[in-house]
Amino acid sequence: MSTFDWVTQLIYVLAASCFVLGLHLMNNPATARRGNQASTIGMIIAVATTLAIIAHAGAISVTGWIVMFAGALIGSGAGLYSARNVQMTAMPQLVSMFNAVGGGAAALVAISDYVRASASVSATTSVTTLLDVIIGAVTFSGSIIAAGKLQGVINSAPVTFPGARVVNLGLAAVGLGVGCYLIAAPNAAVLMVVLLAALAFGVSMVMPIGGADMPVVISLLNAFTGTAVAMAGFVIGNWALIIAGALVGASGSILTKLMADAMNRSIGNIIVGGFGTGDSAVAAVAGPGGNVQAIAADDAAIQLAYASKVIIVPGYGLAAAQAQHEVAALADVLESHGVEVSYAIHPVAGRMPGHMNVLLAEANVPYPQLREMDDINPEFARTDVALVIGANDVTNPAARRPGTAISGMPILNVDQAKSIIVIKRSMGHGYAGIDNELYVDPKTRMYFADAKAALADLTSAVKTLVG
Ligand code: TAP
Repeated sequence: MSTFDWVTQLIYVLAASCFVLGLHLMNNPATARRGNQASTIGMIIAVATTLAIIAHAGAISVTGWIVMFAGALIGSGAGLYSARNVQMTAMPQLVSMFNAVGGGAAALVAISDYVRASASVSATTSVTTLLDVIIGAVTFSGSIIAAGKLQGVINSAPVTFPGARVVNLGLAAVGLGVGCYLIAAPNAAVLMVVLLAALAFGVSMVMPIGGADMPVVISLLNAFTGTAVAMAGFVIGNWALIIAGALVGASGSILTKLMADAMNRSIGNIIVGGFGTGDSAVAAVAGPGGNVQAIAADDAAIQLAYASKVIIVPGYGLAAAQAQHEVAALADVLESHGVEVSYAIHPVAGRMPGHMNVLLAEANVPYPQLREMDDINPEFARTDVALVIGANDVTNPAARRPGTAISGMPILNVDQAKSIIVIKRSMGHGYAGIDNELYVDPKTRMYFADAKAALADLTSAVKTLVG
């Protein structure tokens, strides 16, 4: 190994250390920003080192360099623009699109390498190439469908047809069968059959997923992106790519397991399709029976001010209204009046993992006040008021019955509180598209308003009451 080689390998180790440090710092909201910076530095080091290796090998023409820099410029510009301008509520779609381009790019790396050298490709390279193409292509098409569903461009309800599982299994069989043939007889044209089967599988895997199950699929596709990138690293022999991909693949897999456990779903079912396909249409049409009882700010303020224990249940509507500072202000007033206040955080509340934690950290809500579902659920029964703010599916008791789009999903036991106040603008559905039985519970009062305005009014009403 030449001096240049071992120095560049050593720099790759430095880049990889930055990635690991970055991930570690992201464990805590207080250090997460520094974690992001450490990972960025690692990525700059890795890219610069790779460019130095390419230049040293002298393997690229001037046109090649121009094309590469033009691509990098366009890609970085688009990434920077979208990351700076995206609304917090549209972040999951953006993450999904980033997954798509990551998986797609990894697949293209393997395809171009294979097309150049298909006649002389070894069995080992064939295996990594195939894995890269299959996982990368599934991620690409699946993530585009997921982003479309999250954006509302594609129907977010499960889209399925009779025999969908058989089609999925058939596509998987074609991809794997043709892949095995390619290991014995490398052929670039036949690789395109695998590519098409994998692209179709990505679409057919994500289309039937709906209701409240999208979080599991997004984190699964994120894990796929990392795995595809690691495979691309094996194909072109780049350690930085292997390590970065493995880190994303491993952390994405852990997140997928956590999300699947939180939703009480099996990961195997996602891959062959057909979860989140509960009879949501029936549940939505049937709707909950019973009366809806509305409440105004003054009466809600009386309930809150004279409670000894209040649990705040934030959901997507809090993020949509950008009402995090207003909820923190209300909690401050209540606490200074001696009311015990905590926040119940459902793992899939909002539209991305950790959405509520990030949102409330922005308003400097003390971290110990944020309580996870399993920890806080036993406390609802001795809670005077559960104040639900823009949360819907994660509180819906329909999850405890079979036959709905959220059946089996653990929920926050809001209905066990002594009284419940729900702030939302209408009787409209949440992401899963079904009616919420909590809203017609005799203990529930609906406060119909935008969360930001409602919380500001509530805070001033409580202040008036408690002086
Ligand atoms: P949702 O069930 O989506 O309900 C949000 C509610 O917020 C809506 O019913 C809406 O009712 C209300 N809302 C919207 N804007 C509002 C505003 N400005 N002021 C007050 N209320 C407002 O939210 P959730 O309970 O947080 O559940 C999350 C859902 O999203 C789950 O089904 C979950 O599976 C899914 N999901 C989660 C993720 C992740 S990773 N967290 C990713 C994708 C999907 P109105 O229109 O009547 O106001």
